[in-house]
Amino acid sequence: MSAQVVRRDVVVASLADLRERERIIVDVDGTELGLYFHAGEVRAWHNVCPHQGGPVCQGKIMPRTVQLVRGEGGLKSGGPGFHPTDRNIVCPWHGFEFDVLTGKHPADRRVGLRPIPVRVDADDVIVTV
Ligand code: FES
Repeated sequence: MSAQVVRRDVVVASLADLRERERIIVDVDGTELGLYFHAGEVRAWHNVCPHQGGPVCQGKIMPRTVQLVRGEGGLKSGGPGFHPTDRNIVCPWHGFEFDVLTGKHPADRRVGLRPIPVRVDADDVIVTV
């Protein structure tokens, strides 16, 4: 016999508040999660880093670093720069980065944050836990 997991919807924030703050960390019955608003999208991630379990959602939100190119055909390095729209969450323990919208590590797409189902209804941000 297998145990049955009962999931429920919980209103965890207002969309207006999340839009303004861009990130809100909440605790739902002992499960910490980070809510993010970026580029018109809402995401919810478990606040547990896949590296060594750090509180990843408490990390800074930074533009994704890119390597700029210059010269004809883009053959020369223009040095490091920042992506105009992509944002990464930087884990405060060891600096692993994860895309805010996909949860994926930029260099190894097999590594990523654990998602929590989230939706918006009117001004309510609702997670399923
Ligand atoms: S625990 Fe997050 S980078 Fe190590």
